Amino acid sequence: MIPQFSLEGVRRTVFGQGASANLSQEVELLGGGPVLVVVDPNVLAAGVAQPALKSLEAAGIAHKIYSDITREPEPSEADAAAELGKSLGAKVVVGIGGGSALDLAKAAAALINNPGTAVEYVGLDLLKSPAQPSILLPTTAGTGSEVTFTAVFTRRSDKFKGGMNGRLLYPHTAMLDPLLTVSCPPYITAVVGMDALTHAMEAYTSRAHTPVSDMNALKAIELIGDNLAQAVAHGENLEARENMLLGSYLAGLALAQAGVGAVHAMAYPLGAFFDIPHGEANAVLLPYVMAFNLIACPDRFADMAYAFCEMPDDLTTREAAETCVSEVIMLSQDIGIPSNLDQLEVPESEVPAMAQKAMTVARPIANNPRKVTAEDLESIYHEAFEG
Ligand SMILES: [Fe+2]
Repeated sequence: MIPQFSLEGVRRTVFGQGASANLSQEVELLGGGPVLVVVDPNVLAAGVAQPALKSLEAAGIAHKIYSDITREPEPSEADAAAELGKSLGAKVVVGIGGGSALDLAKAAAALINNPGTAVEYVGLDLLKSPAQPSILLPTTAGTGSEVTFTAVFTRRSDKFKGGMNGRLLYPHTAMLDPLLTVSCPPYITAVVGMDALTHAMEAYTSRAHTPVSDMNALKAIELIGDNLAQAVAHGENLEARENMLLGSYLAGLALAQAGVGAVHAMAYPLGAFFDIPHGEANAVLLPYVMAFNLIACPDRFADMAYAFCEMPDDLTTREAAETCVSEVIMLSQDIGIPSNLDQLEVPESEVPAMAQKAMTVARPIANNPRKVTAEDLESIYHEAFEG
């Protein structure tokens, strides 16, 4: 039986090489500026945002840039970006960068229309008023932030990590220009690509999966399996970059509908306690959680294997499912992902606290295909030290 499901999300998608040079047209479709542009400082310095910014200038659209963004941003950065947006009377918010910049853009768009500060809206569906419309241009492939309803913050002073989530946070337009991802360095390409793979695999095996999220997830797994190593090895390979951007977008659509699982829950404390980037934490944990989850849905693991890599056609379901795990490990090794938590300099003595914290990441824990307890999470973490 097909489960009852509903579908909503990003309103408009624009995909294609050079698309970012048409940003002004997308702003005009939304009624015009002024525009708050939230852009990653490294992306700005590298000139990656230039076609988009030039487009605004050429069209005479008033805009101001907010680029005071740290890796894994603090909630105060969203507050500051929103203040700039309010002072400008921003009608549209544009985000250009990786997940941090895009999350901040979504949060700022929401805070322009809702009183108070970002931390007051950490949780699910706490916003009262719709956000200003946003146009998001990812420069990594990726976090999927351009299509999800989440903005995640880290506050280092008290090891706080949490997200604003909810329907009113969905971006209006995802603008996907593969040319913006070409200068992404190899290691960042590797870890964010593994984050996208994690989105697709956790969505496909989620308890909340639907026929639509399944299609998006499997196509994403195929695209990422075929192209991630090439994008890492040959950053200038536009075909690989294009396919990775499409793959991470589809993975984002799948996760927006089906949610993620224990990998994301377990990555949360690694970010909160030890400031480990989201993509890196997911990339290291993914194979260990897959090995734990395999018995819950071996047929789904087998499906993923056939999408992900070349497979002999005489395998049993169990053999194909196990191949899925071993092929993910091989790809991780090929592209330089650390193989265990020791290499991330995480102290193993913190495992009980990490497991307790991960159990509080409620929806991913509930969506995980195999029921997990704090003890299960502790043993997965320990395995991730020994691997
Ligand atoms: Fe993620």
